[in-house]
Amino acid sequence: MSERELYRKRLVSMADLTPAHITRILDTARVMKGISERDVKKAPTLRGRTVINFFAEPSTRTRTSFEIAGKRLSADVINISAAGSSLSKGESLKDMVGNLRAMNPDLLVVRHGASGAPEMISRWVDCTVVNAGDGRHEHPTQCLLDLMTVREKKGTLEGLNVSIVGDIANSRVARSNLIGMRAMGMKVTVCGPATLLPPRAGEMADRVTSRIEEAVEGADVVMMLRIQTERMEGANFPNIREYSRMYCLTAERMKRAARGALVLHPGPVNLGVEIAPDVAEGPWSVILDQVTYGVAVRMAILYLLLGGGLPEQ
Ligand code: CP
Repeated sequence: MSERELYRKRLVSMADLTPAHITRILDTARVMKGISERDVKKAPTLRGRTVINFFAEPSTRTRTSFEIAGKRLSADVINISAAGSSLSKGESLKDMVGNLRAMNPDLLVVRHGASGAPEMISRWVDCTVVNAGDGRHEHPTQCLLDLMTVREKKGTLEGLNVSIVGDIANSRVARSNLIGMRAMGMKVTVCGPATLLPPRAGEMADRVTSRIEEAVEGADVVMMLRIQTERMEGANFPNIREYSRMYCLTAERMKRAARGALVLHPGPVNLGVEIAPDVAEGPWSVILDQVTYGVAVRMAILYLLLGGGLPEQ
């Protein structure tokens, strides 16, 4: 399958992309960032194309950045949420998607609470489908913006030591980053209480630990995750205060990291639970850079998937 055919079909998992695809997306995103820095933040590249953002779960960053990305490239962008759609009147997901298909969109961005929903939807439509986060499964565009953030700040990805700390078992961000980061030659450690580590953690990561001090020691990148209470069945740790005592990323703990280390968090952040305020807002933090790069990466993905010409410089 050619690069263009692959892009046209779908972006559901980081496993859909080779390292060459990832590099192409990150290079394109750098060009797209330039458009966002102009006074007039608009290129005609996707004029006449229709993008539907279907979000069946809450979102601030992903939804807004996909909308901005589409509009900066002159696409017609339509936003639908589950609450405001006929799903709330009992329409099935398949019927709803069939109706969206009948309106002939070029690309469907899907966020859904059920793992596998974007994959299933991609079989019901003939347009491109992009996964904007599905259940515990994957969040590939978050991984791509995380990779862009690290590459822009450190100049490389290959050989960097990354530690992902928190609720690994319920995190689609961790799952996508484990695939994407390892594909790009990064060494990934996962860290969390045993109850928040997936059963195959040892196969998915280069290293597994339940001690945050061990995870942070010498790390070039520390990615903190929030506790995904919405995906938990029952209590996985005694209480939030105990969790925070064991796993909150404090400035004292960050002193163990490598010189020039970065702190990432996909958001939303629970300050004082998984990350101390002075770390989230301090010199290690690139959390808001991630948001900025998120627009650039999503512009690049829309551009590459829809196969437009190079944006005007
Ligand atoms: N990182 C992320 O997916 O944030 P939102 O839920 O706000 O989109």
